Amino acid sequence: MYDTIRPIIWHEGTLQLLDQRLLPQQVIYNSYTSAEAVATAISEMVVRGAPAIGITAAYGVVLATQQALQGHVADWRQAVAKAIALLAKARPTAVNLAWALAEMEPLVSKVKEHHALEKLLARAVAIHQQDIADNHTMGELGTALIAQGGGANPVGVLTHCNAGALATGGYGTALGVIRSAFAAGKIHQVYADETRPWLQGARLTAWELLQDKIPVTLIAEGAAARLMHQQRVTWVVVGADRIAANGDVANKVGTSGVAIIARHYGVKVMVVAPTSTIDMHTTNGSGIPIEERPASELLDFHGETVAAAGCGAWNPVFDVTPASLIDAIVTEKGVVEQPSYAKLAALMRR
Ligand code: MRU
Repeated sequence: MYDTIRPIIWHEGTLQLLDQRLLPQQVIYNSYTSAEAVATAISEMVVRGAPAIGITAAYGVVLATQQALQGHVADWRQAVAKAIALLAKARPTAVNLAWALAEMEPLVSKVKEHHALEKLLARAVAIHQQDIADNHTMGELGTALIAQGGGANPVGVLTHCNAGALATGGYGTALGVIRSAFAAGKIHQVYADETRPWLQGARLTAWELLQDKIPVTLIAEGAAARLMHQQRVTWVVVGADRIAANGDVANKVGTSGVAIIARHYGVKVMVVAPTSTIDMHTTNGSGIPIEERPASELLDFHGETVAAAGCGAWNPVFDVTPASLIDAIVTEKGVVEQPSYAKLAALMRR
């Protein structure tokens, strides 16, 4: 139930990616047969969202192997290693990309050539399927928290960007919790931040919730304080691109502003992410690389310049929410309330 969207499909030796740049106007899958084209698809936002780009990169390694073996490349392992290095550079912030490649890499060096394609594909499929299963687990865990805060009546929640089926293998992290909580009768209304400049909220979150008939209302980013002042929401539910060892969370730019407003109005903040998003090697949020994308993404809209001619723009596309503003991090291994290094380290040992 409420689980109908699959942005990534492996089909007979090709990778099919739902082109998220075209949603919601067009629902089109592009077909990929090389790791180079997959790396470009990640950089250019055909596929986006931390777990989704990790899964896509894993299939990119399969494509590189397939191409090298079919082309009888003498040193196929070296060719695949080059592809892995290229995929790793596609986007810097989401640690799931490096995580998925680190899952694939040892297999490339160890596996016998005649089993290589079969074994690497099996690993990529397992990463993909596990992600969907983990999202369902997090959906249940996050739903239990909403019941704690909301009493008997269904509540409103606010989400930022798109941490849904489209950003994962399926079902979603933040939107997985929202799907599960809606199914359980604990949510009556979802508010989605439009999320400038790519409009992930307006185009993607709104589209995917409407596919599943979950009521969604769009707000401009700047309306969050008004929304909370009117007590329309009790929780902010978001995903993450990377969680540092102390619980600081990098997510779509604007998330930290929402969390600051939420603390002011007594609204709780839930971050939903698989443990593959937790980076215990990065001590705190200031060590997380924050992607900066072209100024044209802000200055132009649909190919037309909308800003005043000659105006410059700064376009960091993620920000860091301090752990102190987060009430709960929900993972497939369990929930960490008031996150800290000690609590996350214990979670990762489970
Ligand atoms: O630039 P994007 O669209 O890839 O940013 C995505 C986000 O910030 C998501 O909130 C995050 O990756 C979590 S996805 C489950």
